Amino acid sequence: MPAAETATGRADSTAAERQIPPPWSLLMELSHRCPLRCPYCSNPETLVRRAAELTTADWLRVLDQAAGLGIHHIHFSGGEPLVRDDLEALVARAAGLGLYGNLITAGTLLDRDRLAALAGAGLDHVQISLQDTDAGSADLIAGLPGAFEAKLRAAALVREAGLPLTLNAVVHRRNIDRVAELIALAERLDAARIEIAHVQYYGWALRNIDALMPAIDQVERAMAVVEEARVRLKGRLTIDAVVPDYYARRPKPCLGGWGRHGMMVTPSGRVLPCHAAESIPGLQFPHVTANGLAEIWQSDPAFRRFRGTDWMEEPCRSCPAKEVDFGGCRCQAMAIAGRAEATDPACALSPHHGWLRQRAERAASGGDRPYAYRSFAGGKAGA
Ligand code: SF4
Ligand code: FES
Repeated sequence: MPAAETATGRADSTAAERQIPPPWSLLMELSHRCPLRCPYCSNPETLVRRAAELTTADWLRVLDQAAGLGIHHIHFSGGEPLVRDDLEALVARAAGLGLYGNLITAGTLLDRDRLAALAGAGLDHVQISLQDTDAGSADLIAGLPGAFEAKLRAAALVREAGLPLTLNAVVHRRNIDRVAELIALAERLDAARIEIAHVQYYGWALRNIDALMPAIDQVERAMAVVEEARVRLKGRLTIDAVVPDYYARRPKPCLGGWGRHGMMVTPSGRVLPCHAAESIPGLQFPHVTANGLAEIWQSDPAFRRFRGTDWMEEPCRSCPAKEVDFGGCRCQAMAIAGRAEATDPACALSPHHGWLRQRAERAASGGDRPYAYRSFAGGKAGA
């Protein structure tokens, strides 16, 4: 009998609603603390202070619940997750539960002993962020002298330890012309994958939009380099790259759709469908000390709010692509259209699309402006 049918054969919509497949991954933002000060930081405007971070016992309970819910993949992230001295214990618990553990790090705090301890605890994979291939530019973007060399050392240690390596290169006007060099560096460091990720202009990054936005011809040249490299390096290096939203005609399904594939926990224990969800007013997000992950995933109102397609308005409601992109990004709709229910302005069918493109073109002519750096001192910090 199909799960959505009762013994009488009638469709049971309440039961069907309970059959939401578990998320594939859980992103654990262990801390907002970070030695870097990137101008495109994706952490929220209000940072969580150390004193308000979850305890080790809290995080261990979250991992137990994640395994119980059927999650496969744990991302240990931040800020910088290496600032937590309980990271090894968390990695060990994840490994003991059969969860695949990925460390997402800036790499500057990773040394041989720490990596050996993490590998010994059962870590499966490491992702290191990369600011540029030019050391001076990379350190300027990171806001930390010596960061680039430290990252190269960390990447070499990861491969020496036999762990697979992904590089995450955030690109923008000041480094996008070096995409070929970024790919060559990934080859040299023996990475399995490189993500060429464009800056997402929410939160802190929005303050730096005039310093970071690339021009359309820069984006087109970079995508041509990526296409050539994908063919040349097939089977050796995976290259993830997409046209950025502000120059696209259709949006991406943000995180595969709201509440469909992943969930995340903030350093203070809020459970969110995506990293920018708290920018949407009117949504109350649950807390790990009050609710279990399974209950949150299945029935929390904030997770259900934009799940599927029932919430959509026109033009998404009657669009043949609605099950493909799920209307794009709710947080971008909020930031630009002023309503989270609106069509993502990255879509050419959105009434705000023309404005987005014009804003991008205006920002791209901003020249060599100084960066507004991210830090606890410079940004708002809260609980
Ligand atoms: Fe996607 Fe909505 Fe645009 Fe259709 S109208 S392509 S569903 S964002
Ligand atoms: Fe929140 Fe895209 S970042 S839905």
